[in-house]
Amino acid sequence: MKELDELNEVVDSLDGELNQINDLNELQQKRANYLGKKGPLAQIMAGMKNLTNDARRELGMATNNVKNKLEAMFEAKRKALEEAIVNQKLEKETIDVTLPGVSFSTGGIHPLYQTVMELEDLYIGMGYSVAEGPEIETDEFCFEKLNLPKGHPARDMQDTFYINPELLLRSQTSPVQVRTMLEKKGEPIKIICPGKVYRRDSDDATHSHQFMQCEGLVLGTDITMADLKGALLEMAKKMFDKDRQIRLRPSFFPFTEPSVEVDVSCGMCNGKGCPTCKGTGWIEILGAGMVNDNVLRMSGYDPEKIQGYAFGIGVERIAMLKNRIDDIRNFYTNDIRFLNQFKEVK
Ligand code: DAH
Repeated sequence: MKELDELNEVVDSLDGELNQINDLNELQQKRANYLGKKGPLAQIMAGMKNLTNDARRELGMATNNVKNKLEAMFEAKRKALEEAIVNQKLEKETIDVTLPGVSFSTGGIHPLYQTVMELEDLYIGMGYSVAEGPEIETDEFCFEKLNLPKGHPARDMQDTFYINPELLLRSQTSPVQVRTMLEKKGEPIKIICPGKVYRRDSDDATHSHQFMQCEGLVLGTDITMADLKGALLEMAKKMFDKDRQIRLRPSFFPFTEPSVEVDVSCGMCNGKGCPTCKGTGWIEILGAGMVNDNVLRMSGYDPEKIQGYAFGIGVERIAMLKNRIDDIRNFYTNDIRFLNQFKEVK
């Protein structure tokens, strides 16, 4: 019977076609083609009415067998496809728990600010509080009330950015002394004031048009130069190391009398003399002195009753010495390779 041959051919052709299929929709479509009303089995069945009873029974059974076989083939293929999909998904979702973690980048505290925080910690520990003032300052607070009247030659020591004749970018943190004195109205004072200052300097390895200072002011009764020296020595030992010495050299600032410049013994050579300290064994870190009577009077203090000392630390100077940085511009150029060296967690 030729129909029996046809049935076998159907099985063979499906066998070939199933191999080509690799998605479930396609399989569904193929199934409809083979087993649907217009499929080859349906057609063979349709031709059966012309056969003898025996032949029809035989062909009917054979068709049924083939139909079951096809169903089984489709089912097996469906399972295989589904399994493959699940496997693919699992493969994609596999997590190798032994892989090292992915690190993500975090910021760090800027080395200059780290130095400011250290200074704050150490002075707060000695009973100081932290004061602030504006970066846009008046000529009056930045100079006049600090004993630097207009036209005073000492103004040349600080080339200043003026906004107008009365307003400027502060060239020092010393005006915070004035602001605090006016606020405290004759009361004792013990403050530091870290902050940014600006000067019309050309930038090079040791100069910047913007840098940081940390001002200090202590006013009270019976305060002497010895107290100033003690406070500065304490600072040098805590910021650098306990073997550091300090040296006071006479100097001039209009707002202090007497005035000193303060050197710290060089940590590179322990005071023996090396290129860092230019062979002297000492490195200058700040200016200081006993607050000038005029300054006290201009801000409402009676120098007969209350007096004290002031100092102005160069924050970059300290940070550079501590961390052996040789160019001040490194602090401001935001080179991540430079900054990363100061992160606590790398
Ligand atoms: N303001 C000074 C400067 O910028 C530094 C200074 C010196 C501050 C002596 C002081 C001081 O408070 O007493 O050069």
